[in-house]
Amino acid sequence: MNDDVREEWSQLVSGARKEIQRAKARGARSTRATRSTKAEPKAEPKAAAKAVTEPAASGPAPARSGADVRAQAKAARTLEELRGCVARCEACSLHKTRTQTVFQDGSPVRRLMFIGEAPGADEDRTGVPFVGRAGQLLTDIITKGMGIAREEVLIANVLKCRPPDNREPTPEEKSICTPWLDRQIELHDPKVLIPLGRHASMHILGREASMGEMRTRIHEIGGRQVVPTYHPAYLLRSPGEKKECWKDIQLAMGVLGIPIPSGGNR
Ligand code: URA
Ligand code: SF4
Repeated sequence: MNDDVREEWSQLVSGARKEIQRAKARGARSTRATRSTKAEPKAEPKAAAKAVTEPAASGPAPARSGADVRAQAKAARTLEELRGCVARCEACSLHKTRTQTVFQDGSPVRRLMFIGEAPGADEDRTGVPFVGRAGQLLTDIITKGMGIAREEVLIANVLKCRPPDNREPTPEEKSICTPWLDRQIELHDPKVLIPLGRHASMHILGREASMGEMRTRIHEIGGRQVVPTYHPAYLLRSPGEKKECWKDIQLAMGVLGIPIPSGGNR
């Protein structure tokens, strides 16, 4: 890596760290806002959280259909533009129940992107993907397993808004929302994608299949290496499968040139 690239990437990492700090501060503020308005009518806390988390209205009007999402995603020249469009998006009914959209976390330093399914309650509250229990396990996979910092990888989801009661995304929600993710991937241009679970893996591979058919191998899709693995929420329910996930992660580490510890276990 030459010095210019190294410098550019180190700025990206420090930018990402600041973003995390800002996100944490936002999370803390929205939590406080929620708590302090506890006695208020139900709609109040949500309005308070929105006021601090949504960016100023600039850019195109809110996307209100799948066609709007496709057009705005295609037109977005930068990740900040894209983030703004996502934050305003009203293209599917999930916008009515979200506290805020959840765009991404991390940085492109390692050219590795994890893709989950959809925000849960903790992510909806903080605006940061994978911060709940499944998120802690993903963080352990990255830091303890791969031996790198969470800030060095990108983390995003198929859906940008939380499905109520953590239900699975519907086919309609996925088809409306995924142009945002596709453009996000294009703009980051990661070398390796690790889709987590069936929804993300099927979207990235572009076909219906079981996890058994998709994982344990490296797929090449559009010039990127794709290594599907289990969703951390599934691993929390089936801890015996963690060693299987670790095999997939080692495939990705091989492609990325991240040293694998001798014995293959951390
Ligand atoms: N599960 C996901 O798929 N994404 C998150 O952001 C959190 C939990
Ligand atoms: Fe828009 Fe996606 Fe949120 Fe639906 S889930 S409102 S398509 S950002």
